[in-house]
Amino acid sequence: MVVLDKVGKTFRGRTGAWEAVRGFSLDLAEGEFVCLLGTSGCGKTTVLNMVAGFEAPSAGRILLDGAPVRGPGAERGVVFQGHDSLYDWLSALDNIAFGLRLRGLGRRQRRERAAHFLGMVGLGGQGAKHPAELSGGMKQRIQIARALAADPRILLMDEPFGALDAMTRAALQAELTRIWADTQKTVLFITHDIEEAVALSTRVAVMTRGPGGTLKAVVPVDLPFPRDRTSDGFMAAFRQVHALIHAEILA
Ligand SMILES: Nc1ncnc2c1ncn2[C@@H]1O[C@H](COP(=O)(O)OP(=O)(O)OP(=O)(O)O)[C@@H](O)[C@H]1O
Ligand SMILES: [Mg+2]
Repeated sequence: MVVLDKVGKTFRGRTGAWEAVRGFSLDLAEGEFVCLLGTSGCGKTTVLNMVAGFEAPSAGRILLDGAPVRGPGAERGVVFQGHDSLYDWLSALDNIAFGLRLRGLGRRQRRERAAHFLGMVGLGGQGAKHPAELSGGMKQRIQIARALAADPRILLMDEPFGALDAMTRAALQAELTRIWADTQKTVLFITHDIEEAVALSTRVAVMTRGPGGTLKAVVPVDLPFPRDRTSDGFMAAFRQVHALIHAEILA
């Protein structure tokens, strides 16, 4: 469904050229949940932004259903790193409902659907608040609710649970697994958290450190959902991914 073929990205700016990503190749089949892991600055967000269509590759190509990605599209829903992508002038509920207008839903349906996802991220009853009245983790959850409510075929999530406490994080991980299993979405999910990656994904893709970050290895995680984090299989996958990352930190 998504093909990244020898993708490279070099940023050119005031300080000269910076090769962020080099020769990155990865295919995502429909319904897969792939986690992308790597040290800070290795190029994860750059890869996701290219799949989202916000950045064009400087080398190689990215195909979606066989056609080159030329820009963003409604079939790809994005949760950005950080939490400043909400519209300041809209309430939390209206932020979630905003994109649903494009799907042809009436006002009442939009609000009902938005309220459902607001509750799902643990913010039921707080939909009237504006972004300036929300905490960082709450804004992050509104972003997640917005992406899920729009029901895209492909979810591109950049450290979506990074700013959340352990309890909320565990609850949203379970919810995301359930939604993914129910709806057969294809997910590309960036995280720094090895346990999170092994808990959620069908494959963990590990990148080398930058500059010129590229795919180092892919670890398949062939364990049933919901995952038992204390099982031998889980721990074996954790160790395998940990060793790959650790080698990059030491490099
Ligand atoms: N717009 C840009 N212009 C110039 N350089 C950039 C730009 N965006 C990213 N970079 C550089 O590309 C490299 C990769 O950045 P990227 O944001 O993809 O890293 P990351 O793996 O997502 O890191 P983190 O885990 O910290 O979010 C970094 O060295 C960064 O400085
Ligand atoms: Mg990033």
